[in-house]
Amino acid sequence: MRQSLVIANWKLNGDLELVNFMVSALASESYTADVVICPPAPYLSALQQRTQNTELAVGGQNCSSFQQGAYTGEISASMLKEVGCEYVLVGHSERRSLFAEDDQVVASKLVAAQEAGLTAVLCVGESLTQREAGQTMSVVKQQLLSALQNADLNRLVVAYEPVWAIGTGMTASPEQAQEVHQEIRALLATIDAQQAQKISLLYGGSVKADNAEIIFAQEDIDGGLIGGASLVAEQFRAICSAVKG
Ligand code: PGA
Repeated sequence: MRQSLVIANWKLNGDLELVNFMVSALASESYTADVVICPPAPYLSALQQRTQNTELAVGGQNCSSFQQGAYTGEISASMLKEVGCEYVLVGHSERRSLFAEDDQVVASKLVAAQEAGLTAVLCVGESLTQREAGQTMSVVKQQLLSALQNADLNRLVVAYEPVWAIGTGMTASPEQAQEVHQEIRALLATIDAQQAQKISLLYGGSVKADNAEIIFAQEDIDGGLIGGASLVAEQFRAICSAVKG
């Protein structure tokens, strides 16, 4: 059976107080799913310290494709690893659209993450225009396969996040989400059929306490990547508990 997983993506939100608050709110319960928190980078060390004796894991929101050198402002994957991260998001749609990360950059970040010993959480998803033009599968295929050219499928999670559902309150229907997840698993199987069955596939895009269970109940959906609702303790706790056992 695949490991279920719920990842909190705080984006550019939160502070030390939220780190403390969320750890106490979440650590008191135990979940079937692995639960990962990705705070802004300055809070990673504090989060790592607070989560040491808990089942919560820590992840980065982004890493450099470079390992070291004169790259002002960058953070390498091995630095994330050193401060206790086990995961890092790669190719989030906000990185792609607001910071001009193309498929090539995403692919090199993914390799850098895996080489540092992190599990890369590759995010893929179509825009509304692309969905309406019937291009969902071709966009997802292109993003997925281009990112995985030199990837290690043992250290991989894939998050399907339709861009039109991120932060908008519009969620893909469970059927729409399952259809794409099934296709992603089929595409992964063309690379390694056995491993494709083991890779956790997450859905992201306006997941809330009241829609999580029906989305997570879908066969190829193994958990979620949660933005807005991960900043609210009761919401996020309910989402973590909604994962199938
Ligand atoms: P959202 O964000 O849950 O606020 O839609 C999801 C994400 O961007 O990962």
